[in-house]
Amino acid sequence: MSSESPSSFEQRWPEVHRQLNSENEEAIVLEGKYLDAAITKGLKSHKENDSTKKRRDGLIRHLEKIFTTRFKGCNVQAFGSSQTGLNLRNGDVDLCLITGSKDVKKILKRMRGILNDQGMEDIFTIPRARIPIVKFRDPRSGFDVDIAINNSLALHNTKLLKAYSECDPRIKDLILTVKHWALQRAICDAYEGTFSSYGWTLLAIAHMQMIEPNLAPNLQLSEQREEVEIGKKVYDITVSEQIKAGESKCTTGELLASFFERFANKWDWHADVISIANGGSISRAEKGWKFAEPSAIEVIEAAEDGKDLQMGYHHLSIEDPLDKQHDLCRVVRPEGELTIRDELLRAARMVAEGKPFTKICEVVRPERFKNEEPEDLFHDLRDQKDHEIKSKLENINSEIDTLTTRMDALESERASAIRMARAMRGIIEETGDIRKKHKDTIVEIRKRGKEIDVVRKKRDLINRNVVIPVHMVEEELLKLYNRLTAVIDRERVPSLNREKNWFSLFFELQQMHIKACEAGRLHTEFIELSKAQRQDISQLRDFESEHDDVTKNLLDEEVLLKEEDVSKSGMKSWDKRANSIMRALRQRRNQMHSLRREKGRLEAWIRKDEKRPSVRKGSPKDQARGTGNRREHRGPSQAEKEEIRKKAASGATISLGDLDTLLSSGGLKGLTSGDSNSDKKQRKKKSAMKNLGDLSAHRGSRNRYSRKD
Ligand code: UTP
Ligand code: MG
Repeated sequence: MSSESPSSFEQRWPEVHRQLNSENEEAIVLEGKYLDAAITKGLKSHKENDSTKKRRDGLIRHLEKIFTTRFKGCNVQAFGSSQTGLNLRNGDVDLCLITGSKDVKKILKRMRGILNDQGMEDIFTIPRARIPIVKFRDPRSGFDVDIAINNSLALHNTKLLKAYSECDPRIKDLILTVKHWALQRAICDAYEGTFSSYGWTLLAIAHMQMIEPNLAPNLQLSEQREEVEIGKKVYDITVSEQIKAGESKCTTGELLASFFERFANKWDWHADVISIANGGSISRAEKGWKFAEPSAIEVIEAAEDGKDLQMGYHHLSIEDPLDKQHDLCRVVRPEGELTIRDELLRAARMVAEGKPFTKICEVVRPERFKNEEPEDLFHDLRDQKDHEIKSKLENINSEIDTLTTRMDALESERASAIRMARAMRGIIEETGDIRKKHKDTIVEIRKRGKEIDVVRKKRDLINRNVVIPVHMVEEELLKLYNRLTAVIDRERVPSLNREKNWFSLFFELQQMHIKACEAGRLHTEFIELSKAQRQDISQLRDFESEHDDVTKNLLDEEVLLKEEDVSKSGMKSWDKRANSIMRALRQRRNQMHSLRREKGRLEAWIRKDEKRPSVRKGSPKDQARGTGNRREHRGPSQAEKEEIRKKAASGATISLGDLDTLLSSGGLKGLTSGDSNSDKKQRKKKSAMKNLGDLSAHRGSRNRYSRKD
């Protein structure tokens, strides 16, 4: 590192800067056991829960259905963490569209249209990527989705990762913990120039393969090899699924500590390549991947001097386990490389200092998580007063009412646009036969018009050169013929010249005759064509008046179209109108969906609140539940009820308050303790209500709307 620009470099990558400027520091062995409890707690809250899984599966099913119906012969398959079980709450949804079509650009364009219609957000396509992809966000479920085109190899590496995740719970836990840490520290995004989630997963597996004694076995070593051909390349996709995990007794905390220790200080990125297919690592010499200059630091320094350098390849090399030519660090940019190294060094230092796990995973750039659903669905309601929540609910209800009115108006406007388009389509179809005949006749008239022109021109040209009518030519010819063939009187023999003139005139007349005959034939043809043309023109008028009659009759029946210009373009403009109203409706439906969700959440909180037994205001238990300022008295406890029941049954005097309790709890029967049927029912209902946390979005409402449409 040169001394010219130390400050900015030091600010951006302080750990790397310290490492570069310190004398050979002795690497310390990190103790990670203290992290275990926090990791277990973290995993519990960051792992996918049932509600998230339900939403994710619903979205996958919905997308599968859409694309398989719209792209005939296509196949949609889920891959990535949703299939390997290595998914965090905020992991994306990866889908693969397998299609025989070669025109990827066209497919992506169509997909964009379909997703737009579905109300998806932030859609963008990457047609020129190694694997063409469309990325978007589903606002209903909050998931980011990647749909890759023809990425069949990923389906196989997903199988491999699933097998690793099922080998030993610690393998899964370490991968999830590393992914969580990398996500929080903003170094887990291939599109931002850092490792992908997949890259971090491979790094974690490689680490577990390399520890002593190792934990993750190599699952690609089976005797029986399996190969597959994808895009003219053959890949070895062997995965042994029945292999047991290795001997290591390390806890997840210890594994995480040694992971940071290895990749921060010990691993020589210049000498080796990560390769889980080879048991963790492979030397660069064997792999044939040279650590190419310029380095990340050189590129950054050059950029500071205004120079644009292209970073060399294969710096933080991770070999793909199935596609051995693919280095996962291909996506890593210079800033990304330095940030990854800096974060690894930071984590290792913090573990050495015994810092808590939450601090190590402290979030960088919290705005990246703004779309995520909070862990506690009621987090913002806990400190609010009853009346505030109720007034919120009232506001939402009135917003829902206003939106419902607006949507009803849009629905009816759309319905009338559809009616208009349909009515026009009906008329256009009814008169279709007549219009077809009319059109065919016009085509015929045009064609014949051209023929008539040609015939007339030819005839007139001949007539301009042969002015004598054909019968006169014939008479002259006959005369001349007789003269030429008559018996010669010896006394009156014509001179040679004269005889020559006669002969030439004869031949000239002969030519003239041929042309005159041709002109005659052309003239007859011209007359016939003109006659047919006149007939067709008159038929055209008949068609037009027939069309007008039929349209008039239909319009008399269809009041809607009285003032309308019934034409194909008119019909199209009504179709267009219906479609644009549909788009507006979709937006409103999304709004309605959010409002209903919020309404459900507030109602659930109020219901939950009403169901909760009375707790003392401000008691520590109460505070822990977050109900410190909730209503103090919530009805009689079971013991109090029992007391009142006993009093009433024995005939003792009861207070007005007791009477109120007695009546509001369904009289004596309601106060009866023991396992009556109604009690059982009540308990059953209560336990069903316990699942109030699951207010997740589901596809049901979307489908309901589409059925209604
Ligand atoms: P992700 O990076 O999304 O990983 O790649 P993930 O396991 O699904 O992680 P989260 O939960 O979303 O954060 C998804 C899949 O894409 C394939 C792999 O099959 C991976 O499981 N993939 C990804 C590749 O084949 N090559 C790559 O370079 C990246
Ligand atoms: Mg994913």
